Amino acid sequence: MSFVISFLNQKGGVGKSTLSINVDACLALLEQKVLLIGADKQGTASTWASLRDGSPFQVVSMARENMAGDALKLAGDYDFTMPRR
Ligand SMILES: Nc1ncnc2c1ncn2[C@@H]1O[C@H](COP(=O)(O)OP(=O)(O)OP(=O)(O)O)[C@@H](O)[C@H]1O
Ligand SMILES: [Mg+2]
Repeated sequence: MSFVISFLNQKGGVGKSTLSINVDACLALLEQKVLLIGADKQGTASTWASLRDGSPFQVVSMARENMAGDALKLAGDYDFTMPRR
C-alpha cells in the first residue's frame, strides 16, 4: 500500500519544508521507501539534498501547477510520498 502525505499552506515560513524533510527522515529510519516531491519554486528539499553526502530518501522537484497526476503515478513505487509546497 502507498501513502501520500501533503504539507500544504499558503502562508510562508510555517514549517512545511522542515516538517516534510524530518518526517521523511523518520520514515526512512523505519526502513520505509520514501519519496519527497518538492513542489515549491525555491526548491528547498532539493537544495537540502544537494548539500548532503546522500539522502536516506528520494528527493525530486516538481514545481508546476499540474504536478498532481504525475506525483500520484510516482507514488505507486513508494511506501510514502510527500508532495509539498
Ligand atoms: N516547529 C517549529 N518550531 C520552531 N521553528 C520552526 C518550526 N518549524 C519550522 N521552524 C523554523 O521556521 C523557519 C521556516 O520553516 P520552513 O522553511 O520549514 O517553512 P516553510 O513553510 O517551508 O516556508 P516557505 O513557505 O518559505 O517554504 C525555519 O527557520 C525553521 O527552522
Ligand atoms: Mg519551504
